[in-house]
Amino acid sequence: MVHISQRALSNLVPSKLHEIRSHCFHNQYDRDLNPEGIVALAVAENKLMRDEIVQHINMHMNIKPVHLTYGEGPAGSSALRSAVASFVTEVFRPSMEITEKHICICNGAGSAVDDLAFCIGEPGEGILVGRPLYVGFFPDIEARAKVKSVLVDFGAGVNPTSAAAVTAYEDAYHRSNSAGVPIRAILISSPHNPLGRPYETEFLAGILRLCSKYSIHLISDEVYARSHFPSTDIPHPPPFVSVLSFPLHEYIDSELVHVIYAMSKDFCANGVRIGAVISPGAANQLTGRGNGKGGSAVGGSALLKSFRAIASFTRASQLAEHAWLNLLTDRPFLDWYFPLFQTRMTDAYEYTVSRLRENHIPYNSASVTSFIWIDLSHYLREDSQDAELELNWRMARGGVWLAMGASFGSERNGNFRLTFATPREELTLGLDR
Ligand SMILES: Cc1ncc(COP(=O)(O)O)c(C=O)c1O
Repeated sequence: MVHISQRALSNLVPSKLHEIRSHCFHNQYDRDLNPEGIVALAVAENKLMRDEIVQHINMHMNIKPVHLTYGEGPAGSSALRSAVASFVTEVFRPSMEITEKHICICNGAGSAVDDLAFCIGEPGEGILVGRPLYVGFFPDIEARAKVKSVLVDFGAGVNPTSAAAVTAYEDAYHRSNSAGVPIRAILISSPHNPLGRPYETEFLAGILRLCSKYSIHLISDEVYARSHFPSTDIPHPPPFVSVLSFPLHEYIDSELVHVIYAMSKDFCANGVRIGAVISPGAANQLTGRGNGKGGSAVGGSALLKSFRAIASFTRASQLAEHAWLNLLTDRPFLDWYFPLFQTRMTDAYEYTVSRLRENHIPYNSASVTSFIWIDLSHYLREDSQDAELELNWRMARGGVWLAMGASFGSERNGNFRLTFATPREELTLGLDR
C-alpha cells in the first residue's frame, strides 16, 4: 500500500460540484479546434483584449540569458516590484507610500491567498469569507494550509457588499471562536466576485475596524481594480476603492492589512501566472514616509517576511515577470489599453443583459469584474441544490457551461455566474445554447 499523507488525501474527497467542472474544462469550445465543444461561460477569464496583450507580449519579449536564471530571487525583481508599486500608487491611491519593499511577487492571486493562509493560520484555524464567495478561495485557503474557510451568512435582507453586512462577520467571528475554530483573518474579493459589484466604502471601513478590534488580518483581493465599466444599468459606476486608500493608522495596525493584485484579470492573462502581495506594514512605520528608495526585497510587514520565506514555492517565471514588467512600464500602451478594455466590457455587458432581458432572466446588475450573477431559479425542478446541479448538467449537455451558485457557497438555489467578457461569436453561441 502506497502511503499518501492525510493532508494530501483530504483534498481528494469526491464532490459532485467538481465533476461537472472537470467534464466541461476538458471539452471546451474552440471555433477551429473543437467547434462541437462546450462554450465555457463559467470561468472568470476576460477574453476581450487577448489579441492586444498577445501582440504586446510578442513584440517585447526579447529574451536574454538573464531570463534563464533565477533572477533576483523568489520575491521578484526590484524592477517589477517598483513597477507594481507605481501601478498601485496610481490605481489604488494608497494613503501611505507604497514601494517595492511592500511587495512580493508570486505566480498569481490564487497562490497569494494560499501563501497568506499558510502564514496566517494553523491547520484547523479559520478565515472568514462572506457568501457567496469566489469558488477558488476554498482550495486556496484549505488545500495546503489546512486552514478552514468559515462562511458568513447574511440572509435574504442584507446585501453582502453593504455596510450592514459587517455585523454578520462579527457574529460569524464569535460563533466560530466558540465552536473551537479561532478566526485569524477576513478575506474579501473587492470588488466582489461573484456579485460583480464593489463594496460600499462604509463596509470597507467597518471591516477594517472589525479586524482591528479582534486583531485579525484583512486580506483584500483586488484583482479587478481596473475592470469597471459604465452601462445603461449603472451609467456611472462607483470608482474602485482600495483598502490601501484609507488612512490606515486611523483604523487598524497596518501590519494586519494585505492586498492582492495580479496580471490575470485586468490584463486578460490568467495563464501567464503572475501576481503580487502588497503589504503596507512595517516599512512605512520603520523607515517613515518618503524613504522608499533602494533595491532590496527586505523590509515590509512581519507577514511579508514570512511570506518571502516560502515564496520560492510560488515564484513567478522570469518570462512572466518580463511580460508583466513590459506592460506595466509602457505608459502609452496602458493609456490606450484601459479605455478600449472598458469600451469592450460595456459592449459585451450590454449585449448579454439585452439577451437576459429578452428571456426574462433576472440578474444582478454588474459594474465591475467580467461576469454577471444571474437568477435561473425559475428553471429549477424544485428548490434544492440537486436541482441546481441537474440544471447545470442540462446546460452542459446543451453545450454551455455556467458556474453554479452552490460552488460559490450561495445562500439560495438557482443563481449562476455568467462570464460576459467573452468574444462575441462565442458569447452569442453560448447564450443561444
Ligand atoms: C477574486 C479572485 N481572486 C483570485 C483569482 C485567481 O487569480 P489568478 O489566476 O491570478 O491566480 C480569481 C480568478 O477568478 C478571482 O476571481
